[in-house]
Amino acid sequence: MSNIFWDDRYAKATAAGTAVWSREPNAWIAQVTGTLPPGTAIDLAAGEGRNALWLASLGWRVTAVDFSATGLSIGRTRAAEAGLELDWVTADATTWVSATPVDLVVIAYLQLPAAELSSAISNAVASLAAGGTLALIGHDSENLEHGVGGPKDAAMLHDLEVVRSAAAGLDIAECRRYHRTTADGSVAIDTILLATKARQY
Ligand SMILES: C[S@@+](CC[C@H](N)C(=O)[O-])C[C@H]1O[C@@H](n2cnc3c(N)ncnc32)[C@H](O)[C@@H]1O
Repeated sequence: MSNIFWDDRYAKATAAGTAVWSREPNAWIAQVTGTLPPGTAIDLAAGEGRNALWLASLGWRVTAVDFSATGLSIGRTRAAEAGLELDWVTADATTWVSATPVDLVVIAYLQLPAAELSSAISNAVASLAAGGTLALIGHDSENLEHGVGGPKDAAMLHDLEVVRSAAAGLDIAECRRYHRTTADGSVAIDTILLATKARQY
């Protein structure tokens, strides 16, 4: 899907006075990053910035990156309302690498075909400082038949082996399927990756 598709989706939600995603951070992202000492972070494919804004509220210096300028403008408005300062970068996650290595990269629900997702993860790895953490969550291929929500196109769902091999070179603490209970009590199946870059990487 192109940035035009996403710009349109965010613009329609704004016109309707709604939001596309929840305002709360993803629960797993909050769980695994909430205990880290605040430093510098990138939220790659940040959308409306729910995870970026949450990290910023904890004292992280956050760069929110997305190829949808409309999505980011919603995040920018929310940041101003909350008195938070973030950097907002309109860029393609499959090609963008941070000029300055950071302590944390978050990727939440960046649903791309395998080759593009691999590029985005490789760029995230390249954007990490030594000792930095990569936290990724996304809809897993198993979700199509056994879970709720997410893309219905199998090519856009995460494959554990694709994610694991794109993160090769990092110390992988977790790379597995994760069962998430949704608001209505259904179960969604996500892929999670939690990994760190060795200090002598
Ligand atoms: C499902 S939304 C998730 C947004 C956010 N991470 C969250 O969890 O609320 C996916 C986001 O990925 C962005 N996206 C998709 N492909 C992208 C790409 N190649 N480069 C940058 N952003 C991309 C879309 O614009 C959209 O905002």
